[in-house]
Amino acid sequence: AKMSADSLAALVRTIPDFPKPGIQFRDITTLLADAAGLAELVERMAAAARPLDPAFIAGIEARGFILGAALAHALGVGFVPVRKKGKLPGKTVGIDYVLEYGTDRLELHEGQIPDGARVVLVDDLIATGGTALAAAQLIREQGATVLMALFAIDLPDLGGMAALEADGVASAAIIA
Ligand code: PRP
Ligand code: HPA
Repeated sequence: AKMSADSLAALVRTIPDFPKPGIQFRDITTLLADAAGLAELVERMAAAARPLDPAFIAGIEARGFILGAALAHALGVGFVPVRKKGKLPGKTVGIDYVLEYGTDRLELHEGQIPDGARVVLVDDLIATGGTALAAAQLIREQGATVLMALFAIDLPDLGGMAALEADGVASAAIIA
């Protein structure tokens, strides 16, 4: 590692009251725009995922696409997008999940994650864990194994990684 964990964390910007009052939004665009920071983050994610020997990286819309595709390239494996409803053009499989207000739906292209595949799930951030739990369940419903859910950032006070663990999904975050 060329950059310390603290230097990496310092590249994430916190924006108060986005998208609504009271939310301290962790903005990774400042990290992504920094060549050394982006390289360090992807290297650290690759070091966590490589020993598990995944065949696919599944990335959650939207910022999980950026990090997931970079990680897939670093590992030499394929990338599969997990999208919000109605965005994927082909035949989809999906899962409905509960939000603070109402529900949402995550979708995969049918057949894109084969039965028995070894998958690492990626997103920029885990908060309550609702999104990652739904994505992991959808991937498992395809007959695949979620080896690990990997995040750039954990907000530990919100309990998302504990919720994943309770569901039998191992997880790791580069920045706590
Ligand atoms: C954020 C973040 C995760 C999710 C984490 O996405 O990128 O996907 O929320 O929250 P949770 O752990 O409580 O489920 P956001 O809702 O901002 O969607 P977007 O990436 O499409 O903008
Ligand atoms: N940043 C990005 N996504 C999020 C956040 C955040 O701070 N909180 C919940 N989802």
